[in-house]
Amino acid sequence: MRPATTLLRVAFYLSGDPFMNYNPFMTVNNRLMMGEYAVSDLARTYQTPLYLMDEALIRSKMRTLKKIESQAHLKVECMYASKAFLNLAMAHVVKEEGLSLDVVSGGELYTAIKAQFPPERIYFHGNNKSPQELQMALDYQVGTIVLDNPYEVETILACQPKHPVTVMLRVNPELHHIDTHAYITTGHHDSKFGMSLLDNETEELIKRLTHDERFNLKGLHVHLGSQIQDIKTFLEAVEVLLGYYRHLNQSEKIALPWLNLGGGFGVAYTEHDQVLDLEFALPQIIAAVESMCLNKQVPLEKLLFEPGRSLVANAGITVYEVQAIKSTPSGKQYVFVDGSMADHIRTALYQAKYEAALVDRMDEPKSKVLTIAGKACESGDILIHDLKLPEPKVHDYICVFTTGAYHYSMSSNYNRLTRPAVIFVNQSELRVVNERESYEDLLAKDRL
Ligand SMILES: Cc1ncc(COP(=O)(O)O)c(C=O)c1O
Repeated sequence: MRPATTLLRVAFYLSGDPFMNYNPFMTVNNRLMMGEYAVSDLARTYQTPLYLMDEALIRSKMRTLKKIESQAHLKVECMYASKAFLNLAMAHVVKEEGLSLDVVSGGELYTAIKAQFPPERIYFHGNNKSPQELQMALDYQVGTIVLDNPYEVETILACQPKHPVTVMLRVNPELHHIDTHAYITTGHHDSKFGMSLLDNETEELIKRLTHDERFNLKGLHVHLGSQIQDIKTFLEAVEVLLGYYRHLNQSEKIALPWLNLGGGFGVAYTEHDQVLDLEFALPQIIAAVESMCLNKQVPLEKLLFEPGRSLVANAGITVYEVQAIKSTPSGKQYVFVDGSMADHIRTALYQAKYEAALVDRMDEPKSKVLTIAGKACESGDILIHDLKLPEPKVHDYICVFTTGAYHYSMSSNYNRLTRPAVIFVNQSELRVVNERESYEDLLAKDRL
């Protein structure tokens, strides 16, 4: 069960950059490892489908962010965008590693509070926060509410807050060329998120919030999209935003002290993906912001980032069992696994691409081109198209890489399928952080 030593693992992390690849895990004797465990042993013990997350890798990425914060001249605050993956254990990890937390719903907020996450380090986002959610944020004394639109201002006032409410405003800097899928691009004119910087209403709202003593407007927030692959996109947004800060300063005498650049740093799903590694990207963006602030005479106090995917995606894999292999008359070969779009929705949703491997046959040549299909009653229930693999056999375990973000958090009970368990592996330690759902769980909220 534990053939790899901790020493081996450390050496592995130091030898090259495991974060730049879709597979940051070791192979020992043809077997894929996570921490000191062979993945197939975990699959056998905890059953499949199974989400496995490398907690050590997640923590090491978070420590990198803390180091970057400590080395910047400007005050930098990094938070984790919990929509990527959140449960009590994850909120604990974020708390212990000292990052702040981005939540977008009452449910995410409740999870954070139940994990004793410090509320002052929580940022409450979302384009349509309900009155109940905003009241909850005020009751829990959430540090910052990131406003999306003027209605939220009225909703907050209707809650009759007892203290000035610290807010930021989400805006769209109107960059139009961002190279990502349309569904995951957000920083443009017709986006459902935030307010356009070209819209007069935006400036009116900024003036109103600045002069209303019931609010403490700290600055603007942008999230440019997901899977952004170059720093240029961030720098262009910074140029536009700091230009806007300068304009506000000069024409309205409004000095906004914070700027939040959001998340969206690209990760590797396949060997063709360009990674925007946080360790490489953040220092460059921070340095550029520092120098642009000097040039434009914008006195910024704090710069914020909120990556989600890039902290957890590559740390996670989903393990399935091969249950059948079927060929069509035209020669297409399907590999049926015991999961589905209910635990892996991104292929159907965004035509996302993935890599996978037979976890006990890692060194074998990939001689076949196959389609990995799930068990849901949807022809769109394909996990991976045209995947190269060794010839699979029924009962082989297969793992899909890069499933730590937007998998468990996007999972459903479609077809009354039960959600898999989630296990955190930290070198030799292992804990189940989400139990596998049972049929009883499925019925728990049903009423006759
Ligand atoms: C406001 C905001 N911040 C951060 C993120 C995290 O993005 P990513 O997981 O791509 O880093 C998102 C993702 O949708 C977002 O909407």
